[in-house]
Amino acid sequence: MGYNNNVIDELKSRINIVDVIGRVVSLTKTGSNFKGVCPFHNEKTPSFIVSETKQIFTCFGCGAKGDAIEFVMKYYSLTFQEAIEKLAEEYNVRLTNYNFKKDENLDRYYEVNKIAARFFYDAFTKGENPGYTYMRKRGLTDETLKKFGIGYADSGWTTLRDYLKEAKVSDKEMLDLGLVSKKGERYFDKFRNRVMFPIFNTMGKVIGFGGRILDDGMPKYLNSSESSVFKKKNNLYGLNFTKGDIGDADNAIIVEGYMDLISLYQNGIKNVAASLGTALTENQCRLIERYSKNIVLSYDSDKAGVNAAYRGIDIVRGTGGRAKVLEISGEKDPDDYVRKKGKDAFDKLVKNAIPGAEFMLNNNKMKYDLTDKMKVLEYIRSTIPIFDKLSPVESDIYISKLSEELGISAQAIKMEISGKEIKRKPRAVQETFKIQESYISNVEKNLIRIMISNPYYLSKLVEEDFKFESTLGDRVIEVINNNYKSENVIDFEEFIKYFELEQESILRDIYNQILIGSEEDDFFNQCISSHKYGKYKKRESELIDLIAVAEDDGNEIKVDELTRELMEVSLEVRKFRRN
Ligand code: UTP
Ligand code: MN
Repeated sequence: MGYNNNVIDELKSRINIVDVIGRVVSLTKTGSNFKGVCPFHNEKTPSFIVSETKQIFTCFGCGAKGDAIEFVMKYYSLTFQEAIEKLAEEYNVRLTNYNFKKDENLDRYYEVNKIAARFFYDAFTKGENPGYTYMRKRGLTDETLKKFGIGYADSGWTTLRDYLKEAKVSDKEMLDLGLVSKKGERYFDKFRNRVMFPIFNTMGKVIGFGGRILDDGMPKYLNSSESSVFKKKNNLYGLNFTKGDIGDADNAIIVEGYMDLISLYQNGIKNVAASLGTALTENQCRLIERYSKNIVLSYDSDKAGVNAAYRGIDIVRGTGGRAKVLEISGEKDPDDYVRKKGKDAFDKLVKNAIPGAEFMLNNNKMKYDLTDKMKVLEYIRSTIPIFDKLSPVESDIYISKLSEELGISAQAIKMEISGKEIKRKPRAVQETFKIQESYISNVEKNLIRIMISNPYYLSKLVEEDFKFESTLGDRVIEVINNNYKSENVIDFEEFIKYFELEQESILRDIYNQILIGSEEDDFFNQCISSHKYGKYKKRESELIDLIAVAEDDGNEIKVDELTRELMEVSLEVRKFRRN
């Protein structure tokens, strides 16, 4: 029994090899790759390289190499199937019964698609045809058309079908790939009277087609139906050509249309991919973020485009990228814009693209008439759902902006925005509150428990410079300091008399529910280390936000300083993962 390639493709689109390997090998970034000490042989100088863009690892010392799945197999000594299962679980890919189907011969499907692509290409390039005329009229050069393998499907009903039959392609293969449709006993071509855009995956295989109609028939664009090789949600049009450019620019522009992409490309803007006419998906984001985490959403200038940008921002943020929105004014879409105004003008739009948070706030603001004093409060409150999505650092920045705009103190806005829920409070404010007793973390509970069983651990806590967030923790320290400083056992029933009623009952629960075995020291150390891990993780994500903000500000000194700290913090985080 094996998994078919769909599952494996799905899995591969979700996992990032740097992440998979980074859990067990400490990696540092060198240029566009990551470097570490090889886990497969003994070495002191790192010769183990992980490529994020290629999603492979190579060791120049021992020659070990492969992809993420192979790494997992080798490192954990698993079979292929076990490795898939481990990764699927970690990355939330469901392995359903359907997926247990026997391997299909995907290579054959790629091959058939390639035969079709070549057929369309020949029809487009050899001899006169309306497809070629149309594309030239739209300003595309022979060089561009060739690069993208643009083709032509004529208006006959069985032109492709007859050709494929001749080429020994089976009915089932044609149907499965959505190249033909079947009505009763008759087969006919699905793409007719269209300019054909072959769609490649990042490995350069033809997985499907988009076809644009030549007149004003419907639908304007027809895409291959979903098949075992064509999964829209896992692919982006053009990325096979542009992934290198995206990596080099460390910036990826996402557009909606085939024509947008090709037209930008011809105009020298090559770090682009197109979302195949669907709303941007998480998998598409993960895929493109292998090449750059900086995403510029460049949608049409209409209402649908604004909505698509909104959704896009969430998806990009959710997958760990940084989203900006490029606004096109005066023209319909990136294709029209770049054709009329040229590369420099478009470059300027990219440069002026607005950070996602700002875009959402601006758009929200347009709904309010702020000359009307009564509307100001309503407006401020309407920003709550937006601030909810922001990191504390971003919140702070945009609250200051709002304050300047409205002439209202940042403090007042903060209170208005964060009034309802503790979670929303910017960190600076939040830290002045002690955690409510019902939220005492497990680490704190465990540490309280271990101090009661052996007050000696108080001095170890001091050594570790540990600070409780709960008032109960502070009170326990206080009581021990005042009454049990030189004792080595605590009589719990005596001890508990020092606490108020509410704290007493929590303390009792802690005392009864947490059991410490004979390995007190191990228990203590584990608590401390999971506490530290949490702290480092929190700082790590804070730093990532801070760096993004400093980058947007063009503050290179700050970026440098923060990046250095991030490297140190990430190293600490990884140490924990290894232990
Ligand atoms: P648009 O309608 O904005 O077309 O669709 P466009 O890209 O500007 O195309 P031209 O310039 O008129 O040739 C944007 C994208 O949405 C998908 C396609 O991927 C298209 O590129 N789409 C659109 C469809 O899949 N089907 C359609 O019928 C229309
Ligand atoms: Mn267009």
